[in-house]
Amino acid sequence: MAATTRTFARALRTSTRPALAAVPRAAFRQGGQRFNSSGPSSGSKINWLWASVGAAVVGGGAVYQFTPKETWTKLKKDGSTATFKDYQVVYNAIAKRLEEDDEYDDGSYAPVLLRLAWHASGTYDKETGTGGSNGATMRFNPESGHGANAGLNAARDFLEPIKEAYPWISYSDLWILGGVCAIQEMQGPIVPFRPGRSDRDMSACTPDGRLPDASQGQDHVRKIFYRMGFNDREIVALIGAHAVGRCHKTRSGYDGPWTFSPTVFTNDFFKLLLDEKWQWKKWDGPKQYEDKKTKSLMMLPGDMAIIEDKKFKEWVEKYAADNDLFFSDFSAAVSKLFELGVPFPQGSEDKKMTFTPTNA
Ligand code: HEM
Repeated sequence: MAATTRTFARALRTSTRPALAAVPRAAFRQGGQRFNSSGPSSGSKINWLWASVGAAVVGGGAVYQFTPKETWTKLKKDGSTATFKDYQVVYNAIAKRLEEDDEYDDGSYAPVLLRLAWHASGTYDKETGTGGSNGATMRFNPESGHGANAGLNAARDFLEPIKEAYPWISYSDLWILGGVCAIQEMQGPIVPFRPGRSDRDMSACTPDGRLPDASQGQDHVRKIFYRMGFNDREIVALIGAHAVGRCHKTRSGYDGPWTFSPTVFTNDFFKLLLDEKWQWKKWDGPKQYEDKKTKSLMMLPGDMAIIEDKKFKEWVEKYAADNDLFFSDFSAAVSKLFELGVPFPQGSEDKKMTFTPTNA
């Protein structure tokens, strides 16, 4: 069954609001920002073909067909000869695999791909400049074995055949492109992407404890995200990613999805946080909330922190009321997250790529 069909089937099975998953794609897209690629970057290692190809893809809505594998494998492994078109081809390959490989969780690997990109980036420490998405150090122990990263081998393994088909792309760029693709293919906002990450060895692994602990409250959430350089507004927008995916007993110990449509990117996480009554789940697992009405949804203590804190809650209310605002803020914040710790060439800040979703 195609991923979207499975999503809809699941949402209709479980939703107390059956109209939820039937919202047309265009409705979700309204909030998505469309960015334009800009002119070529001087001094960049990457040969950016911004203006010509960017205009064709963004403006014309064209989707590139797959080019024979041999052509792409001729590209250098550091991506130095890769163009915008090359990255769109890799994007399309990830999207195709997401569509075809739908026997996973709620019918899509997209949520776990997003989680991989976030955990690769969320180790950043602005004081020391360590961590972040440059390096893809989660390929190695000890980082792959950190409790917070449990289960992310599913996402890394999912992307491995793509790396084999397009060996010129670094793992670090591939994991982030996977996150961008996941958000967009789940009908989320367009997320600008800049390539240029290089893979590092295990000496660059970050210490355990840099990612948030779901059992803790607002002080902890602030401490973790301030360390990365985010403000309250950005923090709330980012946690809105819990609209998609689920918790797994075998990974974090928590269990269940946050929303009724866990493979469609929406502002439902915020709506449900505010509209539903939440109670502690009675079980022998870690302390988590369940919705009183259906007992089929969950919230982590760390999620609840953003309505327990007055300053955070202001943003929860704004995002629950305005999907466009959420999409636009999420796009900006997640793009910033994905770039933490990456030594991009000077002058490339305003030269980001935007990819066309495969079924836009
Ligand atoms: C306070 C901050 C956060 C905490 C405590 C937290 C915690 C968690 C936990 C415990 C899980 C369940 C893992 C599992 O059992 O499989 C999870 C899943 C997930 N998280 Fe977060 N998270 C936070 C922020 C974020 C952010 C900033 C993003 C993305 C921008 C994100 C994206 C996701 C996604 C997509 C999943 C679902 C993965 C799947 O379905 O396999 N989270 N998170």
